Parts: sequence; C-alpha cells; structure tokens
Amino acid sequence: MPKLGVNIDHVATLRQARGEREPNPIEAARVCERAGVDSIVAHLREDRRHIQEKDIHLLRKAVGTRLNLEMSLDERIVAIALSLRPDQATIVPERRSEITTEGGLDVLRHFRRIRRVADVLKRSGILVSLFVDPLPAQISKTKDAGVDMVELHTGSYALATAASRKRQELNTLKQMTAFARRIGLTVNAGHGLKYHNVRPVARIPGIEELNIGHAIISRAVFVGLEQAVREMVRIVQWS
Ligand code: PXP
Repeated sequence: MPKLGVNIDHVATLRQARGEREPNPIEAARVCERAGVDSIVAHLREDRRHIQEKDIHLLRKAVGTRLNLEMSLDERIVAIALSLRPDQATIVPERRSEITTEGGLDVLRHFRRIRRVADVLKRSGILVSLFVDPLPAQISKTKDAGVDMVELHTGSYALATAASRKRQELNTLKQMTAFARRIGLTVNAGHGLKYHNVRPVARIPGIEELNIGHAIISRAVFVGLEQAVREMVRIVQWS
C-alpha cells in the first residue's frame, strides 16, 4: 500500500491568476495533512508561475508530515533548497514553455551536474529523488549518481488510450519498479494519475509513494479539498 503525497502547486496557480492572497497553499497543505496525506509536494519553478519563495518558507514551518520540494538543477534554486532544507528534494527537468513537467530528467546527459547537486543536498541532510522516465538506463544512472530514490514518470501510462498500450505501459512500470528496487532504490511514482487510473499503479509491488496534484485540486473545486484528498487516500490505500 503506497503512501500519498499531494502536490499543491495548483492552489497557488489559482491564486496567481488574480495576484491576490486566495486560495492559500499553506492552508491547503494543512487540509491535506488533516485528510491523511503522507507528504506535501511543491515545485518552486524558475519562472515562479505558481509557488513563490515565500510559500516554501511558510510551508517549511507549517508542514508536519514531510515537505518534498520539486526543483530543477538551476543554481539559484539549489541555493534556496540548501537554505530551506526541505525533508526531500525531487529533481525534475524544467522548460519555460512547458505546461507541466514533460518527461523525466535525462540523468545520462546531466550526470555530472546531477551528481554534484545531489551530493550537496544530501550533505545538508536532504533526501534526494530523481524524477525519471521508466527506463533501465535512467534508473541505473540514478544509482550511479549517488541517489537513493527515484520517482518514475507515469505520464505515458496516464496518456495511453488503447487498452493494449495501457497494459504495456503498466507492465513497464512494474518491471522498472522491480529493477529499481533490485539495485537498492526507493521507488515513487507520479504524473497524470487520476481517480480513475491510479489503482493499477497503486497495486504495483514495491512502490513507496504516489505523488498526485492536478486531479485532486481539480476535484476539490467541486467537493472541497479535504474530501477530494480523502477520496484519493481511500483509493490508494484500498488498491
Ligand atoms: N510528480 C512530479 C515530479 C511532478 O512534476 C508532478 C507535476 O507537478 C507530479 C508528480 C504531479 O502530477 P499531476 O499534477 O499530473 O498529478
């Protein structure tokens, strides 16, 4: 039974749409924790399109479970992470024009930089995770970079429409979870997971935590955040 981390970025997206104070992502984190989540995820993007620096400082104080900061390899962001000291840092790729994190980090291409950033974060007592596509080469390079945790990108599974393709993507996630575990990594997964497609991923043996954002915040518009989170917790726990 995996844990659930809720990504609260889109609460801030809504706030930024009007440049006002509401809705407040810190309050959202509190509600998520009350509803039983295991961690709060926030992505401080270089373009600051949703979460702001002030938010993560307030989150650092308010979060009682685990604060998982999604971040790029940008030097200024790394400096912020080092002063903030979140419980966990998940390194993700970032492109300014993207709508959301598209594709995993290319660990092979950015290996030296990743290894260096992971090392300084770890030396500050931060648990480091890399967000990667479910591919053997990316997973084994994660281990080579001195990182102990991966988050497998579930986007291809989530986007697959044909049943056969979906089965194939799910199978890849299963195999890559087993592979990552065999080489000693803790395995998380996320991206594009919804109420209707999360169950098969939650059932994969060896997945430690699922990180879900957009689906929960979207459902919250209709049923409220606490209920939206509770519904997802129930699905994940009873899968
Ligand atoms: N995990 C990572 C690393 C992400 O970048 C995101 C999106 O911010 C998520 C999980 C959550 O994805 P979604 O919003 O599609 O649930």
